[in-house]
Amino acid sequence: MKILVAFFSASGITKEVAQTIAGVANADIFEITPQVPYSKADLDWTNETSRTTLESKDKASRPKIAKSIDISGYDAILIGFPIWWYSAPHIINSFLESQDFSGKIIVPFSTSGGSELGSAPKDMQKSAPNAVFKTGQKFNFGATRASIRKWLQDLGLIA
Ligand SMILES: Cc1cc2nc3c(=O)[nH]c(=O)nc-3n(C[C@H](O)[C@H](O)[C@H](O)COP(=O)(O)O)c2cc1C
Repeated sequence: MKILVAFFSASGITKEVAQTIAGVANADIFEITPQVPYSKADLDWTNETSRTTLESKDKASRPKIAKSIDISGYDAILIGFPIWWYSAPHIINSFLESQDFSGKIIVPFSTSGGSELGSAPKDMQKSAPNAVFKTGQKFNFGATRASIRKWLQDLGLIA
């Protein structure tokens, strides 16, 4: 199995989990970075007109990605992100729509302030309808290598 861990992280929490997952899975890692970085003001979910509030409300918004990666050589892509408004940030849809994920295994994972994956898996499937989605996982900050290993074993991605 050739595995890629691709993640977006606005404040570093998902990044830390992604790095641990990549280590446990012996996978390549790629950071999905926005062409226009999110400022602190952009991330203010209490502000009804902040960039993230507007993007999250607009189902068609597709924030541009700074650089791409060719996923064609991978069997499985683990896609990580922070939960924003009970789903995935729309830059994840940008990533999924940027190339052909047909037949690829996709496993969502996230960090959050407490909520679960919510509508993220379903919303992601709309952007990659021919991928094979596996059950995703929400991790808390400081997720252990043991819990990550078990998750990857249960998914059949590692021995
Ligand atoms: C715009 C925005 C919306 C968020 N919405 C939720 C949410 O719906 N549920 C939740 O539990 N946490 C929510 N959070 C908290 C993040 O999911 C959490 O802090 C996450 O671990 C941040 O990951 P990062 O450091 O990789 O960006 C939100 C954060 C932001 C900035």
